Amino acid sequence: MRVAIYPGSFDPITYGHLNIIERGARLFDKLVIAVAHNVKKQSLFTVEERLDMIRETTQDFPNVEIDAFSGLLIDYANSKNACAVLRGLRSLSDFDFEFQMALMNHRLNPDIETVFLMTGEEHLFVASQLVRELGSFGGDISGLVPPLVHDRVKEKFK
Ligand code: PNS
Repeated sequence: MRVAIYPGSFDPITYGHLNIIERGARLFDKLVIAVAHNVKKQSLFTVEERLDMIRETTQDFPNVEIDAFSGLLIDYANSKNACAVLRGLRSLSDFDFEFQMALMNHRLNPDIETVFLMTGEEHLFVASQLVRELGSFGGDISGLVPPLVHDRVKEKFK
């Protein structure tokens, strides 16, 4: 059973994330979407709210599991018997951070590989941060997130 962890903030989940989830779920027997409790990052949605949106938008994937974690990602991946960490790459600006994280995680546990998928070209510019910013100014986010997430973002800024 090949298990991969897809970790992130998912604040909120976007079409870019869903593109990676759909493709990742085809590559592995089980894909665990893991929402990080990140004390350093100020979030728009609580972890529970984020899990809820992920649950509702990934119902069609039978081999996808949803969870939250705190502490080191590599420890969490270990506890799930994962062979890989899955991450999406959009641009060169993502690369620095991702490369650093992949090398560090590899140092901590060389048995767990980081697997990168290039984001679908239609999602190159989609980022949760942009969704939050657009949402806060009443901008149109309908092409960036599923309708359910769209409504939750709108509600937050009402
Ligand atoms: O969606 P994000 O914010 O880019 O996700 C970053 C995340 C949550 C994957 C990363 O910050 C993480 O792995 N945090 C857990 C703590 C950890 O393991 N840090 C060391 C990474 S080398």
